[in-house]
Amino acid sequence: MDFLEAIDKRHTVRNYLDKDIEEDKLASLQEYIDEQNEESGLKMQLVSNDREAFGGLSVHYGTFEGVHSYIALIGKTSFENLEQLAGYYGEKCLLKAQTLGLNSCWIALTFNKRSVIDRCKILKGEKLVAIISIGYGKTQGFAHNGKSMSELSNISVDSPQWFKKGVECASKAPTARNQQRFYLELVGDSKVRLKNLGGEYSKIDFGIIKLHFELGAGVNNFQWID
Ligand SMILES: Cc1cc2nc3c(=O)[nH]c(=O)nc-3n(C[C@H](O)[C@H](O)[C@H](O)COP(=O)(O)O)c2cc1C
Repeated sequence: MDFLEAIDKRHTVRNYLDKDIEEDKLASLQEYIDEQNEESGLKMQLVSNDREAFGGLSVHYGTFEGVHSYIALIGKTSFENLEQLAGYYGEKCLLKAQTLGLNSCWIALTFNKRSVIDRCKILKGEKLVAIISIGYGKTQGFAHNGKSMSELSNISVDSPQWFKKGVECASKAPTARNQQRFYLELVGDSKVRLKNLGGEYSKIDFGIIKLHFELGAGVNNFQWID
């Protein structure tokens, strides 16, 4: 499975089976996380098969059930665009997990922050932005009712194929509370502007959308503009 297929298959999953993630899959995910940390300067950390990990509430926490593995998204507070970076690189790791047959959920709010902070190495000057739960879901999740591609962009029948594919992939991206507070604008033949329309956690969403659009459109087909 490649990342485009992973985008199609992925849906938020909050309930997990009590099943460990195999060592070879963990190793492959850890290797990928290490590479992404190297590239971004983030300090993402994988916590796995730890039944105490979700504050000893791995059995049930809010709407979540059976969470015992997650990726903690950590980075330096001095990074001006820390939230956006966490969104972009966190989503890469999430899609990697999906290619390994794992399910996931972005969690910025409804988790026991204290217990995650206790379990991870967070140095002075670093911050926990969010976590991504991973594991074998009880289901594969469901497609959400989202905005149409024309609400999310200035797409038209005449738009180039790469733009259409980019918008399609962006429309399938997870956003906090499914808010989809973004707008993609094709400017001229090969320039694209991504507007953040605000809302809680929309800076994280912005990074996620940026990645999905790039994967769909192909980075060689266009340039981002402000
Ligand atoms: C930045 C971000 C933060 C999120 N925080 C939470 C959260 O705290 N709790 C939760 O249950 N879901 C959370 N979600 C999951 C969203 O509710 C979910 O992605 C959205 O409803 C769309 O559904 P989908 O992922 O299946 O497409 C978050 C998603 C994102 C992108």
